[in-house]
Amino acid sequence: MFCTVQYSKMIKAYYLEKCVVISLVLWKYFIIYHCYAGLNFSSMIFKVSRVNMSNVSCSENDTKEEEKEEILHYMKVINAFKAYRVTALRALDECERNYHALPPTHKKMIPGNIKAIEESKVCIDCNALVIKEITKFCNEMFINKSYKELAEHVPFTSSDSDKVKSTLKQIVRDWSIDGEEERRLCYMPIIDEITQRLPVSGNKEIHVLVPGCGLGRLPWELAKLGYFAQGNEFSFFMLFTSNFILNKTPGESEADYHQFTLYPWVGKRCNNISWKDALRAVKFPDVFPGSLPFSNRLSMAAGDFMEIYDAEAYWDCVACCFFIDTAPNIISYLEKIYSILKPGGLFVNFGPLLYHFFGMSNERSIELSYQEMVDVIQQVGFVIIKQDWSKGLYTNVPRSMLNYEYNCALLVARKPDPREGYGNSK
Ligand SMILES: C[S@@+](CC[C@H](N)C(=O)[O-])C[C@H]1O[C@@H](n2cnc3c(N)ncnc32)[C@H](O)[C@@H]1O
Repeated sequence: MFCTVQYSKMIKAYYLEKCVVISLVLWKYFIIYHCYAGLNFSSMIFKVSRVNMSNVSCSENDTKEEEKEEILHYMKVINAFKAYRVTALRALDECERNYHALPPTHKKMIPGNIKAIEESKVCIDCNALVIKEITKFCNEMFINKSYKELAEHVPFTSSDSDKVKSTLKQIVRDWSIDGEEERRLCYMPIIDEITQRLPVSGNKEIHVLVPGCGLGRLPWELAKLGYFAQGNEFSFFMLFTSNFILNKTPGESEADYHQFTLYPWVGKRCNNISWKDALRAVKFPDVFPGSLPFSNRLSMAAGDFMEIYDAEAYWDCVACCFFIDTAPNIISYLEKIYSILKPGGLFVNFGPLLYHFFGMSNERSIELSYQEMVDVIQQVGFVIIKQDWSKGLYTNVPRSMLNYEYNCALLVARKPDPREGYGNSK
């Protein structure tokens, strides 16, 4: 066990009790040390590429134009990550200015307010250090492609900065103890259906695809159970971060790994019950990602799900969690899932119908009601074997005055296998 893991427990307790009295300067060094403590990389054994990440969207036939477009996009995401600190601090500036513009009598009423702003700056510094680690490994993250950063300035948008912040919250969902409840609510129903209906046994390889897998925890859990799991993602925000967590977080064994500290809710200015909630630290990863019992059973494929999966009848199962509604046309997703599943293959879906493209100008978004989706699933050729409803959360904020709770649909369907007769109702 790295001594820092023990040390950080002490620090956490200390942080909770004593932060009020620590001077800002000391506090800053304290947090930065806390974040970096134990990161003596030269002495760590990295299990390099525990998980193969391949960029399937690139091919030798890509035109120069397409290549250029991809590298510009890559740079935009890198730049948005690298600008996190400046962007987040700038957003706090206005809060600080507004505080200082208050009449002295009002300031006196809220002594904790400016303190929370000052502490937020330190938490932002700490997040920036984690982001530095995430971006360190991007250039060589794919087994089949490397990137060289461009010298020219590639601008990013405020929506890119928002994506950096939501990626930090996704770390909580997928790779922290704080995300345990979300994973129990959203991933467990999927895992239960797969283990019941497609149990791992003997030498039979069961191939499960998880499209839009975010930071990869669901395919990781499936690989841990012995499935040959592939996570698919097209967002560089997610891919950089999952590469860091899956392949680069240091450790030696299941019980011996390094945890990082993140402040996912820093900068959240509204609906706070107490500032302590917005400044709460979260540790990740909660498990050592390199501790999968089987090697080579987890892979990650980068690219658009609709474009990179062409092989028909390859997968035993396609498992979607909060993904099916990311399509501009959900019918095309369902047809694709049907075509890439083997006869007898399982489609498991869990999530809401939020329709990510709805209302976007220049996008042709088609929205189906749940009932329509069920009809389409059958028209595509599936036999539905289970439908259920249950609560789902997505990057929920603990102790906030605002939270979303989804009434998620769990739907399990099978692609009929003509050899076994129509129906295949199990
Ligand atoms: C709402 S998130 C869900 C992430 C994860 N499944 C979870 O439950 O935490 C949807 C994810 O799908 C990814 N995504 C959306 N469209 C995609 C596509 N066409 N191909 C691959 N990934 C896609 C997004 O980048 C995003 O990470």
